[in-house]
Formats: sequence, structure tokens, C-alpha cells
Amino acid sequence: MTTQRKTIHMTDMTTSIDYAARILDEGGLVALPTETVYGLGADAESAQAVAKIYQAKQRPANHPLIVHIAPEADLSYWTRDVPAEAQKLMQAFWPGPLTLILPKNPAITDAVTGGQDSIGLRCPSHPVAQALIRAFARLRPSGQAGIAAPSANRFGHVSPTKAQHVRDEFPQECAAGMPVLEGGDTEIGIESTIVDVSRIAQGMPVVLLRPGHISAAQLAQVLGYTPASPDAAVPRASGTLKAHYAPQTRLSLFDAANLDSLLAARPEEERWAIYAFNSAPANLPIQLQWHQVSADPVRYAHDLYALLRDADQQNLDHLLIERLPEDTEWDAVADRLQRAAAAFE
Ligand code: TXA
Ligand code: MG
Repeated sequence: MTTQRKTIHMTDMTTSIDYAARILDEGGLVALPTETVYGLGADAESAQAVAKIYQAKQRPANHPLIVHIAPEADLSYWTRDVPAEAQKLMQAFWPGPLTLILPKNPAITDAVTGGQDSIGLRCPSHPVAQALIRAFARLRPSGQAGIAAPSANRFGHVSPTKAQHVRDEFPQECAAGMPVLEGGDTEIGIESTIVDVSRIAQGMPVVLLRPGHISAAQLAQVLGYTPASPDAAVPRASGTLKAHYAPQTRLSLFDAANLDSLLAARPEEERWAIYAFNSAPANLPIQLQWHQVSADPVRYAHDLYALLRDADQQNLDHLLIERLPEDTEWDAVADRLQRAAAAFE
């Protein structure tokens, strides 16, 4: 098998997708593009395969993973119950950047859910992700396949939005032959919206666990009410830990009114980058980089992680990012930025 793998030339996407599906079927890791961020995927039904994700990411084993399924998947294979609220949300937003936490089918291994009796399911819209899940499903006797995939970054790091980011995060795995499927820059750029509908039968509300491209307002439009916010005392999603998504470069948020005094206090030798909504002022010192960021939250989300990685690559001393507008359309980006900044508080 090993020698056969080496002789495959991945000159076209079909070949590489079939090849990657075989690796998944054999219990290996594959990096795949989705419309949100790149994922580090493994067979969701294999405890050993899933263990490789935790090991590669250096992620604590009690953090549950999202299982990616095809639009035509048999939901009863993965979940015990799909409440009416979940049906509505799937109809409105699948395939797309929405993860639903549902009651887990006990037949599915606990390894993928970090021991929880609920399971995170997401049906990605990215054509490469869908083609990979389908090719994988064709190899399974059941005809069903799920790819467990967290963001393809080491635990706590910034999520990858380009195939190159994945190669930068996992050089060893790549050198050992892990396929990284190319899917271009991810369209959305931040992780999926996560909604918990797993305990509705027990009288729990629909809970918005992680904001994302699909906003609370859009969810409310479909549900007829606004989903509840999570109990901050019970952080269940790693993306909900206070410090997460952090670059290596020291990061802080600033108000435009305070910028002059912040700059005046800069040690002369330090190289800083400033991400601001306005264009650069005249006479900027050479040790200061100025980037004008988008005033459109969707565009901002698309660019954010690549900007953070860029600061790391340049070995800057400090990254100052202008505080975002309070408006709810900025919720998802504000969530990521606050967590990134919290790592340095
Ligand atoms: O956009 C995304 O969601 C990307 C792409 C690759 O699909 N994936 C992603 O995965 O962001 P990850 O592991 O970085 O974040 C998934 C979050 C985790 O914080 C995890 O704890 C939460 O989903 N999650 C998964 N299953 C859960 C469950 N049963 N209960 C509560 N939280 C769950
Ligand atoms: Mg992540």
C-alpha cells in the first residue's frame, strides 16, 4: 500500500480526492478546505483515527470535534433525534457554515465527541469538502461517512484560511505524506456558527454557542425567536475558551482616540503594525506599518486570519487592531478578536 501511494501523481483534483478518501478509510489524516476555514480531517467513526487529530493538534481529548457530512447523509446514522428547530435550521442553512449540536447516536464512538452524548454535525458547502465526503462514503459498506475535522491549526493558534497555512502548521505531518487538498482562499474566513439543539426534548432552549457568518438575527428569522447565549460558566467549545485564536505576535485592541498616546509610548526599536479603519496618517515612522482594514464585517472576517499570520511571519513586536463597531453584524469577528487579544492580557 505504501509503495502504491508513492506512485500516485496527484495531477488532478479527482485523483487527489480519491487518494485522500483512501487515506481517510485507512485511518489517516487529510487536510481539507471548507467554506469557513481549512479542517484537519479523519474518519469520525474510528477512535484511532480521531486520536491522531488530537495528537497532531495537541488538543485536549475532552474537546469534541465537528463531524462533516454530505447533504444526502442519513441523519439517523449520526443522531438519535432531529428536533423540529434543527430541521428548520438545516433547511435554511445547509449546506453552509452552520454546525448543529444534536443528540448523538450511541453507535458513534465517544472519541469524536470528547465523551459527550451530543454530536456536532456540519454539512459544508465547499465542493472539494463535499466531493471528499462522497468519495469516502463510496468506500464504506454502510454508504455513510463522516469526517471529524477541527480547524487545521495547532491548539489555540489562528485557524488556516489557505492551504499554505496548513502546511506551515503541520510540517511534520505533511512531510510524512498527509494530503492537503487545495481549495484556494476560504470564502468566509472564520469558523462556522455553532447552535446547540441537543437538549430541546429536556426543555433546554436553542443555544448559540459560537457566533459566525450566520448571525443571531438570521437564526432568529428562521426560528421565530433569538437563540439563548451560552452559560459562560460552562465552556464546552474550545472556540469559546476565553483565550483562543491567538497569533504569536502580541496583540491589543485600541480606540482611535487613544492611538497617538499609544504610539508615543512605543519603544523606539519595536516594530509595530496597526490595523485601522482610516487610511495611514502622514509621516509614519519606518518601524510602523499601517494597514487599512475593511469596514465591511464580511470582508473583514475573510481577511482577518491571514492578517494575523502575516504579523507572525514578519516577526513584529506588536499588533494594534482598532476596536470594532458595537453593531451586531460585527459579533462574529469581535468574538475572535477579543479572544485573540485575551491571550495577551
Ligand atoms: O468552521 C468550522 O466549524 C471549522 C471547519 C473545519 O468546519 N471547524 C472548526 O472546528 O472550527 P473546531 O474544532 O476548531 O471547533 C469546533 C467547535 C469546538 O470548539 C468544539 O468544542 C465544538 O465545536 N463542538 C463540537 N461538538 C460539540 C458538542 N457535542 N458539544 C459542544 N460543542 C461541540
Ligand atoms: Mg479551532
